[in-house]
Amino acid sequence: MRKVDLKVKDVAFGGKGVGRDNGKAVFIPFTIDGERISAKIVREKKRFAEAELVDLVEVSPHRIQPPCPYFGRCGGCSYQHIDYEHQLALKFRQVRDVLRHLGKLADVPMRPIIPSPSSYRYRNRITVHAQDGVVGFFRRESHRLIDIEACPIARPEVNDALVDLRSRRVEDGHYTLRAGPGPRVFSQANDAVADALRDLIARLIPSGQELLVDAYCGAGFFSKTLLEKFERVIGIDWDTFAIEAARENATTKETYIAGDIEEELRHALAGAVHRTDLGQIGVSGQLGSTSPTSPNKKTTLLVDPPASGLSAGTRRVILDLAPATLIYVSCNPATLARDLKELGDKFKIESVTPLDMFPQTAEIEVVASASCR
Ligand SMILES: C[S@@+](CC[C@H](N)C(=O)[O-])C[C@H]1O[C@@H](n2cnc3c(N)ncnc32)[C@H](O)[C@@H]1O
Repeated sequence: MRKVDLKVKDVAFGGKGVGRDNGKAVFIPFTIDGERISAKIVREKKRFAEAELVDLVEVSPHRIQPPCPYFGRCGGCSYQHIDYEHQLALKFRQVRDVLRHLGKLADVPMRPIIPSPSSYRYRNRITVHAQDGVVGFFRRESHRLIDIEACPIARPEVNDALVDLRSRRVEDGHYTLRAGPGPRVFSQANDAVADALRDLIARLIPSGQELLVDAYCGAGFFSKTLLEKFERVIGIDWDTFAIEAARENATTKETYIAGDIEEELRHALAGAVHRTDLGQIGVSGQLGSTSPTSPNKKTTLLVDPPASGLSAGTRRVILDLAPATLIYVSCNPATLARDLKELGDKFKIESVTPLDMFPQTAEIEVVASASCR
């Protein structure tokens, strides 16, 4: 395989350092911007190449010793070799650049990144896999497992659960280990940053709003703390267990609908969902019939989709029935950029705030707020 000497110019979204060899972009994991390296090309395409680090010729002042013995082999973490301040600076830049390049947003109204109070021992849940007696995570870029005794980004209670799991003869499969009890539905993985996320969203909602539509609501993590800002809340999620959990302690202000966003969002934004009983909803025949004049002036739509972002149909509904305020919680800046680009005709992006929900990993959480033009 060909060997190259190059300078790492940046660390791209996804976690790999990027340099150029005769103009061609070369991606090298576990390198840091500013470093001079030699690397061997392991995959070569027409427009870019992938390489593995061979030698560090000039070392970044941000390089530190990774504490985890599995780092580099385990597929979970990408940044343990980078000091935390620089991880934050990189993630901030990655969000801005992805929104500029993929979202075609000339001026991205970035706000400072919100750090995690703990950069290790923060995950309140992990999913490990068991196969042929090996219990652990997938190896980097592989479907083979690496045997893991403890994970330093997981909370101590989670590692206790891992020790317990490993002490038993478990069947092949996937096991989600959690720091505490709770319904087995989606939950935010870093409690402290999840609280900061909720506070941020509360501050982004303008006063005088009437309806909150919490799309992809899960068990109502956001809607339940935002209740006092609205007269009515409608949450939508297709996970019936999550919707059941949300309904359990619901007030009369709250309605939770189990269904696909693409189908249910149109009714909710058109003001066509009315409450009949706790846990039951009705949909009136004519969309928008309850508020014939501009129904969405006092409506906030909160979306927190999975990494794939909003479907084309969902984007269409948001454009058709544009709510006054849109808050987009994203775990994938690339799909966020695609969606904001398409929604840009109707919505002005007011702010973009990255949050470091997953220190040491390449994952980034982002909140964008927008108002209807
Ligand atoms: C990132 S989680 C957010 C959950 C919630 N906002 C929270 O913070 O706990 C995404 C949620 O979207 C739901 N979901 C994904 N695609 C959906 C769809 N097309 N229709 C309805 N719900 C969907 C999943 O069940 C999951 O609960």
